[in-house]
Amino acid sequence: MTDFPAPHVPVMMEEVIAFLQLRGDGIYVDMTAGAGGHSERIAASLTKGRLIAIDRDKEAVALTCRRLSPYPAATVVRANYSELKQILERLSIPAADGILLDAGVSSMQIDTAERGFSYLKEGPLDMRMDSDEALDAATWLQGTTSRELEQVLREFGDVGPVRRIARSISLRRDQGKLQTTTDLAEAIREALNHVVPNPTELRQVFQAVRMAVNNELNHLKTGLEQASTLLAPGGRLVVISFHSGEDGVVKTLFRKLTRPQVELRPDGRILKRTAPAFKAVTGRPVQPGPDEIERNSRAKSARVRVIERLATETSGEKEKTNG
Ligand SMILES: C[S@@+](CC[C@H](N)C(=O)[O-])C[C@H]1O[C@@H](n2cnc3c(N)ncnc32)[C@H](O)[C@@H]1O
Repeated sequence: MTDFPAPHVPVMMEEVIAFLQLRGDGIYVDMTAGAGGHSERIAASLTKGRLIAIDRDKEAVALTCRRLSPYPAATVVRANYSELKQILERLSIPAADGILLDAGVSSMQIDTAERGFSYLKEGPLDMRMDSDEALDAATWLQGTTSRELEQVLREFGDVGPVRRIARSISLRRDQGKLQTTTDLAEAIREALNHVVPNPTELRQVFQAVRMAVNNELNHLKTGLEQASTLLAPGGRLVVISFHSGEDGVVKTLFRKLTRPQVELRPDGRILKRTAPAFKAVTGRPVQPGPDEIERNSRAKSARVRVIERLATETSGEKEKTNG
């Protein structure tokens, strides 16, 4: 197996692989191939099975293609995972035995200054995961009012002094001084009166802008909904999230899928109750151990949630009519 440098070590590898319960003849989908670390472990365990590794990032796809070239069972697709249904249809794959989604941005993207994801590296205000998309961070910031920016910082960044930061960014933009990641970082520092050189707000604001530019939570919601419909009986959906907004999307969907569906009459009485098609494999989200966090600080905020499609969808299905 390829030895990749430390920053590209996949997060929670052993937990993810254990949760996927890989079978040599199984069909697996990695919705976020990134540097191909999880994908390679899956591909290496296949005998007659298949792996579909997806990423919207051109460079991630190129790297994963190289990394998976020794494994004929693997197919790499450049696409947005919100199109999972069409991707599998095109490949004539009706269902998968396991699907992995490792959300957010990769170390590779963060570490490449020209991609504009990092407040620690000077680069253009880009932040696009898919460089063929028209909307980059500079364009997004140009077309966003201070109010809208506030809203995004509140929603995606968990940022404290949103108003001051949003105003400072808008002011710089209006003065024509918002061209690079350094300019954006400076606007944030100015809003906070330079009390500390690298306040946590830098990470939070960059994260919020990135999530807005890439429409991340909407794609996550669509991608997970599609993934859940494409699991074979007994198949598992394993999701790693790094942000409370991401984890909220996962938690809400998983809760809905693992609870009985209740249809109500107009008077509020239960008309029909359908048993859930999934069971929760993880109750509370699973977090990385202290050793992994020490080796890889990026793992610190990781949370894994897993659901499993019940063996036969109708096995537990009972229709109950009230009155
Ligand atoms: C955390 S990294 C995945 C790392 C990977 N598990 C590994 O082993 O290297 C997340 C990846 O998801 C990709 N990604 C994020 N949103 C996506 C989307 N909507 N569609 C496809 N890929 C996406 C990013 O481009 C990035 O490469």
